[in-house]
Amino acid sequence: MGDSPLTSEARARHVAIIMDGNGRWAKKRALPRAIGHQRGVEAVRRLVRGLEPMGLDCLTLYAFSSENWKRSEDEVDDLMNLMRKFIKSDLPDFVANDVKLHIIGDWRSLAPDIVEMLEDALAQTANGSKTIAVALNYGGQNEIARAAAEAAKQGEVTTASIEAHLDTAVLPPLDLLIRTSGEVRLSNFLLWQAAYAEMLFVETLWPDFQPEHLADALEDFAQRERRYGGRK
Ligand code: IPE
Ligand code: IPE
Ligand code: MG
Repeated sequence: MGDSPLTSEARARHVAIIMDGNGRWAKKRALPRAIGHQRGVEAVRRLVRGLEPMGLDCLTLYAFSSENWKRSEDEVDDLMNLMRKFIKSDLPDFVANDVKLHIIGDWRSLAPDIVEMLEDALAQTANGSKTIAVALNYGGQNEIARAAAEAAKQGEVTTASIEAHLDTAVLPPLDLLIRTSGEVRLSNFLLWQAAYAEMLFVETLWPDFQPEHLADALEDFAQRERRYGGRK
């Protein structure tokens, strides 16, 4: 844990972020939404580079929801092209930062060239010691339905058997879920995993998000008392 002041009990292992507010960031500056998304990618890049001292085992980022297809064709194209560019330009950074990529959601139905790039990125980062999970074409309800169907195929449907088939089955339990931009809703993100996660809603628009904001969130988390329904 290095020189982190937090006790191991209070330390968050798995944080997830709903990276929201790119459009409003652009609108405030009378810029196209595409620029907001570009600046959003830069915020992701800063975070990946600044992750080491936070001591997380896993950071999960909501990048594209299964409902985001409802946006204009132009915006969806912009987002897909940004994804292509980001994988190309930032894969070496992932490897250099000892990051293992994991993807959740129905990503295999994205464009074939993106699927291929992602498969390559998964292979190249397979030995990383901490995980960045990216939610792509992700919907929490769909994830639960797929996991339940798989559990039923293999035997009894229980909370444990569903959990074992979630896209997040290999990740540590979710400790903290953050949403930027002031919206206070889950927008179909990690519905199952959020059962006992702590939540933090911040006003910062995603392109303005700095690694220090995550460090602050982790300090906030460390002060919370998690009870899981029980009492000491
Ligand atoms: C988040 O920013 C990025 C994606 C959903 C892909 P938005 O594009 O939702 O930004 P707002 O909510 O319109 O400000
Ligand atoms: C959630 O944000 C999805 C991502 C951040 C990728 P949205 O902007 O799509 O959510 P709503 O539409 O405001 O609920
Ligand atoms: Mg939004």
